Amino acid sequence: MSRKKTILDIQKMKEAGEKITMLTSYDFPFTRVMDDCAIDAILVGDSLGVVIDGYDNTLPVTIEEMIYHTRAVTRARPKALVVADMPFLSFQTDLRDARLNAGRLVKEGGAEAVKLEGGTHIAATIRAIVDMDIPVVGHIGLTPQSIHRMGGYKVQGKREEQARRLMEDALAVQEAGAFALVLEGIPLALARRITDELSIPTIGIGAGPHCDGQVLVIHDILGLCEKYSPKFVKRYADVRGVIADAVTSYIAEVKKGEFPDEGHSFS
Ligand code: KIV
Repeated sequence: MSRKKTILDIQKMKEAGEKITMLTSYDFPFTRVMDDCAIDAILVGDSLGVVIDGYDNTLPVTIEEMIYHTRAVTRARPKALVVADMPFLSFQTDLRDARLNAGRLVKEGGAEAVKLEGGTHIAATIRAIVDMDIPVVGHIGLTPQSIHRMGGYKVQGKREEQARRLMEDALAVQEAGAFALVLEGIPLALARRITDELSIPTIGIGAGPHCDGQVLVIHDILGLCEKYSPKFVKRYADVRGVIADAVTSYIAEVKKGEFPDEGHSFS
């Protein structure tokens, strides 16, 4: 039986050259399954706004929704480290809001770390949260909460000037005290440069194979997302097909009077 993973384990994995595995989870049963598979870290991502709630992007997600889902995940008592996303408008307004909302994710949700999107411009916010003894994961590159500034979900850092700014962002996030950094939607060569430069682990999503770890949205790898599927997503299963087959069989059996049979009834 393995023991509870902490941020120290995640940091040591970079030193040891062992890849870090992270997936999103938003509820109790998914957390139980992936924890039994020995995932290293679970991200309660604000991607839940898209894959669970059906919004077009992550901007409408509230801190209350994040706390609700984080609590469902931590109730499964996973061995994996649990990181909760800070949603749009929960940390950008001022340091007090940022501290309070990070604290709520830990106190009410049971998160062991929080994740914030942004680089140099939120370094002071990261520092303020770290100073409360709440571990922080940074997130730079294609940051979904910046969809309107980016003009869509576009790969970032392709031009040298953009790449230089992303390197500055990565260093600022590390300097501010983050213990890990998500790199999303950036060219693999840039992700490699950032990973080599930083002492904290990088966790990539659409950032190629050279990051210290990888994260994906669980609904994407299970084939549960009907909407847009980015190039970097690998579908490991067709769970939508499995669900559709089960529901179709149930409907057919009820219509024909085959279910429930005696074996599924009380005498
Ligand atoms: O919200 C999320 O799930 C994320 C990951 C995809 C990195 O931020």
